Amino acid sequence: MRFGVPDWLLPGIEARTRFIDDQVMRAISSGIRQIVICGAGYDDRALRFRTSGVRFFELDHPATQADKARLLRSIGAGPPAVTLAEADFRNDDAGVVLDQAGHKAGLPTLFICEGLLVYLDRGTCHALLAALARRAAEGSVLAVSLATHVEGLDSGEVASAANMRRRTGDAEPWQTILPAAEHLELVEQAGWTVILTQWSPVPVSDVAHGRQSLLATAEPPRQTDPTPLA
Ligand SMILES: C[S@@+](CC[C@H](N)C(=O)[O-])C[C@H]1O[C@@H](n2cnc3c(N)ncnc32)[C@H](O)[C@@H]1O
Repeated sequence: MRFGVPDWLLPGIEARTRFIDDQVMRAISSGIRQIVICGAGYDDRALRFRTSGVRFFELDHPATQADKARLLRSIGAGPPAVTLAEADFRNDDAGVVLDQAGHKAGLPTLFICEGLLVYLDRGTCHALLAALARRAAEGSVLAVSLATHVEGLDSGEVASAANMRRRTGDAEPWQTILPAAEHLELVEQAGWTVILTQWSPVPVSDVAHGRQSLLATAEPPRQTDPTPLA
């Protein structure tokens, strides 16, 4: 099935999918029992990787969640395989949404933000990543895709130019495209420590400003024992 994705985007999307799939398999085989997918859209990993004892939580706009719930029901899937929670990251605290959905902050979690941050403004990216970091027990992992451009350009101009070329550039504009170092810094400022980065392939043509997707994993802040009292 082609989903109407332009040819030049396919290699990047395939690499991104494989990278995140690998993180899901790695997490499940290492004993992680909670997987949170932010901006999940029609992600089908909760079905493809369903495993006894593993809970998937998906956060997205209410309208998307309602449509996805309907589709899942139509194929006989849904809870308990996956919990759909409604969130608009511009206004909602992802931590509160996760708490209400039954996510356990004391247990390790794989958090996924795939193809999402580019749609959020920088402040919202920070707030979301920081909220996830606060719910990330030791052993948790963040897997994220970051939209980047080469150094030395104005990020606002890069995003505007990219949106002018996109069919949905007005309705769903890309907002956060940054030089790689600055994007990784944004992740770290939200409380994560980046442990692995991997460039997605550069699409063959049609990509201005050296735009490229950077895939990364990160760990939560170390839980340090309080200094023992003398
Ligand atoms: C390009 S899709 C990515 C879907 C999926 N993660 C993937 O990689 O195939 C972006 C998703 O982010 C969601 N999204 C964008 N802005 C959002 C916001 N402010 N709050 C919640 N979800 C948002 C959209 O509804 C959409 O499902």
